[in-house]
Amino acid sequence: MKVLVIGSGAREHALVRCLLRDPEVAEVHAAPGNAGIAAEVPVHPVKVDRDEAVADLAARLDADLVVIGPEAPLVAGASDAVRARGIACFGPSARAARLEGSKAFAKEVMAAAGVPTAMAVVCDTPAEVADALDRFGAPFVVKDDGLAAGKGVVVTEDRAIAVQHAEACGRVVIEEFLDGPEVSLFCVTDGMAAVPLAPAQDYKRAYDDDQGPNTGGMGAYSPLPWLPDGFVDDVMDRVIQPTVAEMHRRGTPFAGLLYAGLALTSRGIRVVEFNARFGDPETQAVLARLRSGLGGLLRAAATGTLAQHPRPIWHDGAAVTVVIAAHGYPQATRLGDQIGGLDKAAAVEGVEVLHAGTRIDSDGVLVSSGGRVLSVTGVGRDQRDARSRAYEAVGHIQLDGSHHRRDIAVPR
Ligand code: AMP
Ligand code: GLY
Repeated sequence: MKVLVIGSGAREHALVRCLLRDPEVAEVHAAPGNAGIAAEVPVHPVKVDRDEAVADLAARLDADLVVIGPEAPLVAGASDAVRARGIACFGPSARAARLEGSKAFAKEVMAAAGVPTAMAVVCDTPAEVADALDRFGAPFVVKDDGLAAGKGVVVTEDRAIAVQHAEACGRVVIEEFLDGPEVSLFCVTDGMAAVPLAPAQDYKRAYDDDQGPNTGGMGAYSPLPWLPDGFVDDVMDRVIQPTVAEMHRRGTPFAGLLYAGLALTSRGIRVVEFNARFGDPETQAVLARLRSGLGGLLRAAATGTLAQHPRPIWHDGAAVTVVIAAHGYPQATRLGDQIGGLDKAAAVEGVEVLHAGTRIDSDGVLVSSGGRVLSVTGVGRDQRDARSRAYEAVGHIQLDGSHHRRDIAVPR
């Protein structure tokens, strides 16, 4: 099978690598890709948020399967456009992608499906914002209703900051604070059947000890040895299956990757958010442990045959991913810094170095071109082993002014 991967992050680099390992996959292409992806497979320029551009490319390449990484093309309808050409596409329709594209819509679906989530109020005016903040109290949680790449959420003890964020966003969702650790559970679904991948944890804050602003994600690990027994089954029964059934009932089945961001609160499991795509950086840790073929699994979801497809098989050790971010990320990111030491890093046993914001400049030098620049994953017999491999490799990488967290996968 010939697969086209859409996107340009480390998540897409991980998808490309995993597809290349699958004997069922004969050829992988990517668009637009990045410098690391371009070194491994053919890449094609494409405006990812113009839906027909993705479909045109898929048709021109005669792809058997298109896998859409980021949310923007999904929300713009790229998956519908690809399917309209008779090409299988892993990624939900624009209408189903609203589960991620609108937090208010996600809350409505969860309410209809009886899925446990934070109590929330949608606010359009300063008076509604003030009422909601008073109702829930501190810590305040204020979310931009639209897509904001994980950066539209402010969690703060400071009421003035909460009000300021709401003013800057326009329509917001204000909700009760959820205590407890977060878990990302990715589920592959064809709109009816759903299959969980291995649970992972993401580190959203920029600095060690969960200090600093929210980012797209600074690191991840999988599996999570501290999860209660039966956790995944519980989430499938109480969150994923009811959501998939409700989307189906509405005539907008969700086929693709349903990512449940969950909090294990003192009162039980709650959904923090849904995403309509693989998470970044959790995907790098999760896919590093996948031992069965990714191409066949995604194609089964894209073609409505997931119930008959064999379940995924996992490496029984652990994977730890550390993100290397550019100077100033996430506030004032500096681009164009030279990157070195990658060969040495990649030579550490059990390590994968994946590219996110990288490009080759006019002098042929590898430089940073985005906030999250590289993603380093170590796989080992357990979390400690995986972690030490990842950090050993990180130590070889040179990128002026870069920062990374030093506490990824430190045992809880
Ligand atoms: P979201 O974009 O909704 O995933 O929010 C980004 C991050 O903000 C989450 O991963 C959490 O760390 C935090 N967050 C969001 N909602 C809440 C909540 N209700 N209570 C506590 N933290 C939250
Ligand atoms: N890791 C968070 C996200 O992909 O949204």
